[in-house]
Amino acid sequence: MTEAPHSDRAPEPGTSIAPARGSGALPDAWDSGPDPESMVPGQADRARQLAEIAPHWAAYYGRAARGLAGAASAEELLERHTAVLGRERGNLTLQMQGLGQLPLEERKSTGRALNLMKQWLGEMSDVRRAQLRAAAGGQIPLDVTLPGRRPWVGRAHVLAQVRDELLDLFHGLGYSVYESREVETDEYNFGKLNFAPDHPARDAHDTYLVGAGRVLRTHTSPGWVRAMEERKPPLRLVFPGRVYRAEQVDASHMDQFHQIDGLCVGRHVSMADLKGTLSVFARSIYGPQVRTRLIPIYFPFVEPGCQMDVACAICGGSGRTDGGAQRCPVCKGSGWSELLGAGMVHPNVFKAVGYDPEEWTGFAFGMGVERIAMARHGIPEIRLFLENDVRFLSQF
Ligand code: PHE
Repeated sequence: MTEAPHSDRAPEPGTSIAPARGSGALPDAWDSGPDPESMVPGQADRARQLAEIAPHWAAYYGRAARGLAGAASAEELLERHTAVLGRERGNLTLQMQGLGQLPLEERKSTGRALNLMKQWLGEMSDVRRAQLRAAAGGQIPLDVTLPGRRPWVGRAHVLAQVRDELLDLFHGLGYSVYESREVETDEYNFGKLNFAPDHPARDAHDTYLVGAGRVLRTHTSPGWVRAMEERKPPLRLVFPGRVYRAEQVDASHMDQFHQIDGLCVGRHVSMADLKGTLSVFARSIYGPQVRTRLIPIYFPFVEPGCQMDVACAICGGSGRTDGGAQRCPVCKGSGWSELLGAGMVHPNVFKAVGYDPEEWTGFAFGMGVERIAMARHGIPEIRLFLENDVRFLSQF
């Protein structure tokens, strides 16, 4: 409000509210509005009612109504509305608070008048607000200072990121991707990979059976068999995919997880090539300082077979944590953690796919993607990968 308020009525002693609680003065500018009757019909009747109940408020009502009806903009309307009807310091509110100082009879009549004015002036304010909004094209003005809403941007799952990084690495070493089925036959999952029918190595795979002779693949190695049956050597392939084992689920075991196998077949491919490949791989994912070891181990489909271990990421290879006080819970005190299985492809596997084992040799390896992702990111719990909690996933 730019103009000085002035008193629009002389309070009649005994009938007016104490001026100290707000005089009800309204600026002259409010008088220049349109006739409120044109916006809310029945104004004369309202003025008459007020004149009967509390005569000295009738004039105030007329001016306030005209002022609200004549507000030129949403801002001006808000300003005038606040001056008259504001919940904290609006004139009517202040007058209501002063009611208690009036004699009983007058308190009643003035209270009624104030309530009527509140209702009627509120209505006038609403009508004017609607008019102004309609004039602005019905639109709420655009506030360009509000912060924008960021569009939701998704990302690859952490396992997909690690898988792709590994595939990239092998791509650089000349490997192509071969994908094969998750529902396998017993023959491809085991038989052609040189598992003898009653060999205990089958037990280690805790196989889900899905009908006669059919299993959920327990590893991605059956892919080698399918690829070699389809293609002639030499070949260099990687086999990413989901595998299933009926495991007891805990922090480091799930009954489904992911593997990447690799297979390289050619003339004169040797164990030295395998070691070179695995050490390139280990350095690239764990850094050039990584300590690894190869130890012999049995798998039916390779001969000789080995396992590559890396120095445990949690205890640094010492086998102890808490400054030596505790046995490392992750490597169980050994200082090593198993990274992958590998070996030279067994001649029986070549025979099963129709390759001549006298002419062709090859190496193969297989690794768990979850395990690598857990070591890479310090993830302590394998189940997090499947829970799809964005608070977890959005960290990677
Ligand atoms: N297929 C084996 C497993 O799942 C891993 C492996 C692959 C071992 C290749 C040796 C060679 O346990």
